[in-house]
Amino acid sequence: MKKTLISFCLILVTLLGACNGSDKREEHSQNSMVEKNETLIIPGEDEVIDAEIVRKGEVLIAYSNCYECHKEENKAKGPSFQAIAKRYPMQQVYLDHLARKIISGGSGAWGYPVMEAHPHLKFEEAKMMATYILSLEEK
Ligand code: HEC
Repeated sequence: MKKTLISFCLILVTLLGACNGSDKREEHSQNSMVEKNETLIIPGEDEVIDAEIVRKGEVLIAYSNCYECHKEENKAKGPSFQAIAKRYPMQQVYLDHLARKIISGGSGAWGYPVMEAHPHLKFEEAKMMATYILSLEEK
C-alpha cells in the first residue's frame, strides 16, 4: 500500500515538472516570435499606385480611430505604419490581405495584442487605407 502511494506521488511530481517545463518553452517561443515579427520583410516589387487612392486612404484614416493605436513612425499599441509599409510590397494581394485584416481585426502577425475589428468599413475603403499605409515606406 505504502509503495503504491509513493510511486503515485513520484508520478505526480514528474507530471507537474513536465507541465512547468512546457510552460517555459512556450514563453520562450512566444518571445522569439515577437522578434521575428518585428523584422520580417516580405520581398517583392512595388506596383505603381494611383495617387488619388492614397489621398482618399489618408482621409479615411483621419476620420477613423486608427491613430488611437498606430503612429506613423513609432510603435504604439500597434506597429507603426512605416513598419507595416516596410514589411509588405505595394501589391494587390497584400492590399487585399490588409484590407480584410483591418475589417476583421486580429492578432498574430506582429506579436502585439489584438487589433479591434472595423466591420462598418467597406472593403474598398479598407483597401484605400491599406494603400495609404503602404505608401508611407521610408525611401
Ligand atoms: C485597438 C487598437 C487598434 C486600432 C484602433 C487599430 N489598430 Fe491596426 N493594429 C493593431 C494591432 C495590435 C496590430 C497588430 C496585429 C497583429 O500583430 O497581427 C495592428 C495591425 C495593423 C495592420 C497590419 C496587419 C498585418 O497583418 O500585418 C494594419 C494594416 C492596420 N493595423 C491598420 C489599421 C487601420 C487602417 C486602422 C483604423 C481603421 C487600425 N489599424 C486601427 C491595433 C489597432
